[in-house]
Amino acid sequence: MKITRRNFLKLGAMAGAGLALPLGALSVPAARLGASSAVRSPRVEPFAVPLPVPPVLRPVHTDATTDHYEIVQREGTQEILPGKKTKVWGYEGIFPGPTVEARSGRRTVVRHTNELPVPTVVHLHGGKTPPEHDGYPTDLLLPAGGAHGAGHTGHAGHGNTSEGTREYAYPNEQRAATLWYHDHRMDFTGPQVYRGLAGLYILRDEVEDSLPLPKGEREVPLVIADRTFREDGSLYYPSLDPDLQKPGVLATAMNGFFGDTVLVNGAPWPYLEVSNTKCRFRILNASNARVYDLALDPPPPGGEPFVQVGGDGGLLEAPIAHERLLVSPAERFDVVVDFSRYRVGQEVTLKNLLGEGRTSDVMRFVVARREGEESAVPERLAPEQHFPDPETAETTRRFFFAAGGAWGGMSTINLRVFDPERVDARPRLGSTEVWELSADPQHPIHLHLAHFRVISRDGGPPGPYDAGWKDTVFVRGGTVRLAVRFEGYRGRYVFHCHNLEHEDMMMMANFEVV
Ligand code: C2O
Ligand code: CU
Ligand code: CU
Repeated sequence: MKITRRNFLKLGAMAGAGLALPLGALSVPAARLGASSAVRSPRVEPFAVPLPVPPVLRPVHTDATTDHYEIVQREGTQEILPGKKTKVWGYEGIFPGPTVEARSGRRTVVRHTNELPVPTVVHLHGGKTPPEHDGYPTDLLLPAGGAHGAGHTGHAGHGNTSEGTREYAYPNEQRAATLWYHDHRMDFTGPQVYRGLAGLYILRDEVEDSLPLPKGEREVPLVIADRTFREDGSLYYPSLDPDLQKPGVLATAMNGFFGDTVLVNGAPWPYLEVSNTKCRFRILNASNARVYDLALDPPPPGGEPFVQVGGDGGLLEAPIAHERLLVSPAERFDVVVDFSRYRVGQEVTLKNLLGEGRTSDVMRFVVARREGEESAVPERLAPEQHFPDPETAETTRRFFFAAGGAWGGMSTINLRVFDPERVDARPRLGSTEVWELSADPQHPIHLHLAHFRVISRDGGPPGPYDAGWKDTVFVRGGTVRLAVRFEGYRGRYVFHCHNLEHEDMMMMANFEVV
């Protein structure tokens, strides 16, 4: 069975706009998940390759206000599985792309050149970015030479397209946080991120600098992504059209594509040698659809393996200890692990309790040496945040995210598929709104531009992974209420499910800040 966009559009028209929402969608327990394709990756010895760390990109020049960068999006060849070559589509030809380091209050301008055979779009996830630089899905950067025009790409004709090269400017008028940049091409975000178009963007500021958190070698990004490889090392993805001219995936990936090989920073089940000290990990789930429930095996004596210091929107006011970390696609967790509680020589596996078979392992830490402790996790991390107050909300809006068999295979928001021309919310610049998101069965939901605070989950208090400012929230069935602040810029932005297959199947909508 094939799922094509046309079928979705037809179903969408049939479902109509006026259907009542179910009262309180089912709360579903997350299922343990293996892989979603018959293709099996070649076997890889786990914990045999060292964890790579993506290189930090150097600016081509800097001036009083701005750091200028250049990135070429191109095909590259990488040894991901030992002894095999994998072609990736990467920023600078690598996966993950180079890390951009930025400072709050200093502008970053990135000049992107598209040397890939398809249109691309660059979105800075978590960025408070003016609309023309936000990577709206139809604002395509066409390949140089115009070989593949906008005619093949559905709604693309309405966008603000460029050819070959364009600049994206980021004001960085926001707090220090772990952001990431990734492809956002209309209908093809899933396959294009999967092929490698994703990288970290780390924003720093004085507040963070002044803290004694682990730094330098002891601050390590962990970009977790699952992939499936063919025997020859090439990436397997169930696109209907491998040239990515026509959208759609096989029915097996309708609920998201789940790979059987877990990569961290682009390496399969790597290991990292650490000292018997604290270490800070900036965890990003860059997977298309897989949710991880991370745990340490063995857990450290005394418990509390993960001390969370930050989330999507930067540092928390105070640290939070977790036994496990539930990380849905696109969420970031900034955590400190204290390896002094293990003995030197001990091996500690980062497990995924939602995985099955090989996907239940992520990576391994080896406590390799004794070193002096230089860092600490202070009780107070960030000054008191002025979170949006739901009492002052101008409006409450309700959005129901539904996908899967029960919904005719459609991926919808309020039972409608994405239409770039339709605007579903017009918040006022500077206002706070309550957004009530319901999900069937479960969706990681992301708003561009606007950061929010989770104010309740299923009528109760927010969950353990909802703390601080967020831009992506995992709705596991049931209903989550957010207090959203719309600040920064007027204009049209998207919000969507960050299960990239759902997103490509048009589980996306517009809001316009007015
Ligand atoms: Cu991380 Cu609209 O995406
Ligand atoms: Cu985003
Ligand atoms: Cu979804």
